[in-house]
Amino acid sequence: MRIALLDSGLGGLTVLAEAVSQLPTEDYLFFADTLHVPYGTKTKEQVQQYVRQSVDQIMEQDIKALVIACNTATSAVAAQLRSEVDIPIIGMEPAVKPAVEMNRDTGKRVLVAATPLTLRQSKYTELVSRVDVHDHSIVDSLPLPELVTYCEELQFDLDVMSDYFDKKFKPYDLNDYGTLVLGCTHFPFYKNMLRQLLPQHIEIIDGSAGTVRRLTSILELNTIASHSGHADIQFMCSGHEPEYVDKMIKAYQWYTAQLEQQ
Ligand code: DGL
Repeated sequence: MRIALLDSGLGGLTVLAEAVSQLPTEDYLFFADTLHVPYGTKTKEQVQQYVRQSVDQIMEQDIKALVIACNTATSAVAAQLRSEVDIPIIGMEPAVKPAVEMNRDTGKRVLVAATPLTLRQSKYTELVSRVDVHDHSIVDSLPLPELVTYCEELQFDLDVMSDYFDKKFKPYDLNDYGTLVLGCTHFPFYKNMLRQLLPQHIEIIDGSAGTVRRLTSILELNTIASHSGHADIQFMCSGHEPEYVDKMIKAYQWYTAQLEQQ
């Protein structure tokens, strides 16, 4: 049986790469909801409906656990889904907690980049108020919806992207920041580029490694971990477009090559 990962599009591939690296003896199904990408600019109700439809399609396959490899979908619907399907569901959230811990005593701030819908959800605002002390709050939030679109277009041209990032980071004095949190699974595609463009003292973190560690313990807890798989990956999308499957394979290869340069 496979572990399924679900995202609106290519972003979840960054979580898949981490899963393959930490759990190479599992097999995977990667599902992209190409009919509805992007999620981050839609309403919570729309995303709830799209995710449920995708999960219905995924559950027709031989699946033992589902990773919602998408911060937006997790914040909109993961909690309800857990009572609707009978396999373990692992969600994700922006890595705000470790970022705050890293900066609490340094006097630096934390910038969380994510989709507009993630940043609007109570799951995010409650997370921030839990970990960020109010009389000295250090977390700022930056919606980057266009970055999802650029990623879906496989736009990795340095000139185009540095214009975009310059514009988006312009309102911030980056000397004040210690950590940038990539709170959308599409964004790690740009990690190496951001590393080049941002001041060196800024750490760039995302939630993939923590999510896969949680997946590992849930597989063990449920005694469903496999030690005989070969990291075989089956790609699926809601629109059944073979050309998008080719794009997923290309994007996955591009991303894993980027990881080797980190
Ligand atoms: N990759 C997703 C996330 O982690 C959603 C991006 C989108 O579809 O807007 O939030």
